[in-house]
Amino acid sequence: MTENRKIIIAVDGPAGSGKSSISKEVAKQLKLKYIDSGAVYRAITWYLLEKHDEIPAKHNLSDYLKDVFFDQVFNEDGTCSTFLNERDISNDIRTEVIAKNIGIVSDDISVRELVNSILRKWSEMYSVIMDGRDIGSVVFPDANIKIYLDASVDVRAVRRFEEYKETGKNVDIKDIKKQIALRDTQDMSRPFGKLERREDAIYIDTSEMKKEDVIRKVCSIIKDYSM
Ligand code: C5P
Repeated sequence: MTENRKIIIAVDGPAGSGKSSISKEVAKQLKLKYIDSGAVYRAITWYLLEKHDEIPAKHNLSDYLKDVFFDQVFNEDGTCSTFLNERDISNDIRTEVIAKNIGIVSDDISVRELVNSILRKWSEMYSVIMDGRDIGSVVFPDANIKIYLDASVDVRAVRRFEEYKETGKNVDIKDIKKQIALRDTQDMSRPFGKLERREDAIYIDTSEMKKEDVIRKVCSIIKDYSM
């Protein structure tokens, strides 16, 4: 696909809707570059917590990020690694502490502008599938294909619970559900870059779908577009 013209596929949706696992697998199958925008917000949250113990009560949080260099690599095995000042923090950013603190970081307009510029830069040379909340609306409003992946809160809580379990983290599913509902509210109500289901996005409710079927469906949407 990269040999032909460059295309951008934006995949938005709420936490736990399967965006990243679906997008990674689609990228692998169709030889696209996968970019995880949420990982950049997570990396910033991780960094601010490392430096300050709690997220500083200040606007323009990007002022704290002047000496920080972000990088992301989509590996051949279909995993995605995120680096901060050359340190691989891919695992460090998948914790409940990060999830609990990320809302305030993602609400900061200076952080959003910084992240958007990084995401656009990473996409310059490649055909890309990028997942997030505002990819089709703000980061790439002219994306060739926009997809909105959704699922019920219950289904998403179970998926997140399983993800944590796989990485050996012991969490309470009720807490996860509460957190997901809270994150939905935060993600859907921020003044800039909020998550919203737009009319120009193809809507897929994955609650009752097998992962393989979602992957097949997204691949066929992209192939149809590319033909
Ligand atoms: O996708 P993931 O769950 O890793 O995203 C974590 C958080 O990062 C979201 O809940 C949201 O606060 C923020 N985010 C965002 N805009 C994006 C991607 C993620 O605000 N495009």
